[in-house]
Amino acid sequence: MKSITAFAPATVANVSCGFDILGFAIDELGDKVTVGLGDRPGLHVVHIEGDGGKLPYEAEQNTCTVAIQAMLYALGESIDLEVRLEKGLPLGSGMGSSAASAVAALVACNELLGNPFQKQALLPFAIEAERVACGAAHADNVAPSLLGGFVLIRDYETLDVIKLHVPAGLYATLVHPHLELNTADSRSVLRQKISLKESTIQSGNIAGLIAGLYSEDLPLISRSLKDVIAEPSRALLIPGFYEVRQGIKEAGALGSGISGSGPTTFILSPNRDIALKSGEISKEIFEKLGLETDIYTSAINVRGAYCIPNTSP
Ligand code: HSE
Repeated sequence: MKSITAFAPATVANVSCGFDILGFAIDELGDKVTVGLGDRPGLHVVHIEGDGGKLPYEAEQNTCTVAIQAMLYALGESIDLEVRLEKGLPLGSGMGSSAASAVAALVACNELLGNPFQKQALLPFAIEAERVACGAAHADNVAPSLLGGFVLIRDYETLDVIKLHVPAGLYATLVHPHLELNTADSRSVLRQKISLKESTIQSGNIAGLIAGLYSEDLPLISRSLKDVIAEPSRALLIPGFYEVRQGIKEAGALGSGISGSGPTTFILSPNRDIALKSGEISKEIFEKLGLETDIYTSAINVRGAYCIPNTSP
């Protein structure tokens, strides 16, 4: 039976000062989803692996089928489909796990149906899946997972999404201490009001970060990786977070922040060597605190999600 498999990468959302409006994609690490024509009515998740039995099979709750349902609704079609999900991303890690599943499902389904949508037009359907997964329709994971690179969501009402320049040589390290934080809980600790002063500081840093990306001004990127809105509340949930920041700065990294809603910490470095060294330093700090820790080092993924050619005979 005809089926298509797609891959969607892990992502770092917020990127410090860009709360809910900025994210970037990581190489290789991600989820794979296969969508095929089914022989029973409706949408069915028929197989999930790599989730430790934690993800729902119900079509109204699984981010793959929620996203596909939104797409079929927009097309005005009802098609019988089967979905298989291969998780490459840990759940509740802050690496855009739910987003990668939804994006891979959409890219596979779009291809299966003959590409009725341009890639970027799949975004609203992926956002629907985020709403179901964590109660907030944010796009800073799904947009970079779909499109690759650094992506800015300038406006949610019109979904004005802008792919930004990626400086040559920029490397990311993801440090994942084995704590599970779900996004809804990490959003519930956020203050709902910020002061004029905090708004000014945050605006200066997001503008500086974007200017730094375009001008490839690494010291400017480093100075701008500051978050006075979400990080102060969320860092309390991640033991060792500030020690990691100090250690990686001493090693020459540009800066660090909470990846998405945590507990993963992301680090940006001017080259691969410093990215690897920063990973080692961070792992040692978390492991001294008794937290088993995984490290991923990656260039910035500029491709985003894609279909995997079918190699079976
Ligand atoms: N921008 C979202 C948040 C990302 O910080 O809650 C969640 O991964």
